[in-house]
Amino acid sequence: MITGKTGLVGIMGDPVEHSLSPTMHNAAFELLKLDYVYVPFHVKRGNLSPAMEGARNMGIKGLNLTIPHKIEVIKYLDELEGVAELIGAVNTVKFTENHVVGYNTDGFGAVKAIEEKKPIKGKKIIILGAGGAARAISFQLILNGVGEVLIANRTQEKACNLKDELTETSNTSVDCLELGDELSLELEDADVLINTTPVGMYPHHNDEPVVKADRMHADLLVNDIVYNPLETGLLREASKAGAQVVHGTKMLIYQGVEAFRIWTGVTPPVEVFETVLMRELG
Ligand code: ATR
Repeated sequence: MITGKTGLVGIMGDPVEHSLSPTMHNAAFELLKLDYVYVPFHVKRGNLSPAMEGARNMGIKGLNLTIPHKIEVIKYLDELEGVAELIGAVNTVKFTENHVVGYNTDGFGAVKAIEEKKPIKGKKIIILGAGGAARAISFQLILNGVGEVLIANRTQEKACNLKDELTETSNTSVDCLELGDELSLELEDADVLINTTPVGMYPHHNDEPVVKADRMHADLLVNDIVYNPLETGLLREASKAGAQVVHGTKMLIYQGVEAFRIWTGVTPPVEVFETVLMRELG
């Protein structure tokens, strides 16, 4: 029941109507009997300033930010937590008395999902794509002690720009390349492959995956951050090659688990988020 004491959290973005976060978080609040409610806020580009001002003044406890606000929101914060500062993007905000802190739990979510199956310390990881998700994941991988990162992108320049930023802030070995034959060679001794491109996402789920089974090996772990459909073409190829797979839902779950912990101080059981997602995604 919503009372005078209920804490309000939510997600700001455009669009937000398909977000799975309200259902995931509200199920966990209910299970843990925490007096919070999570709602969607449809905030269009250009309206973030008054929306954040309103959030501060209305006593909102926390927010998730999604497209198109993850970078712009930084202007309205008092502090950025470590990895969010490196990434330059925020997906979680915590409001306390006169102080607003921004966090980024996207990379945390992806790395936690991978580490559940395979420790990444010292490992060689190939990332497909060089956009916002690749950025969040690669900074977090480096923080967690990965051995070598290779950014493979359709546009090589974008991959190399990200590489330059990553090498400015660490001594980890990072390289960049264009998708193509060279990637096949690099895959031979890679430990983990992460797809951050939208290739394989509904309604383009029948498009050719970026990497086929004949380029993968059985000791590889393949993670696709696309979660609709759950079984992407890339993950099907990975299974054919005998590789381990990590579904995109896992990143979504763990980024949410960490946001929930930041707001409430309580780590929710992963199974609650998982059950909700499986139900919603059919
Ligand atoms: P996000 O912020 O979710 O990571 P993004 O910033 O739009 O999304 O990045 C999408 C990434 O997927 C980009 O690296 C893009 O490659 P380009 O830099 O060449 O644009 C990559 N991408 C998108 N569509 C692709 C496709 N059909 N094949 C290969 N890569 C693709």
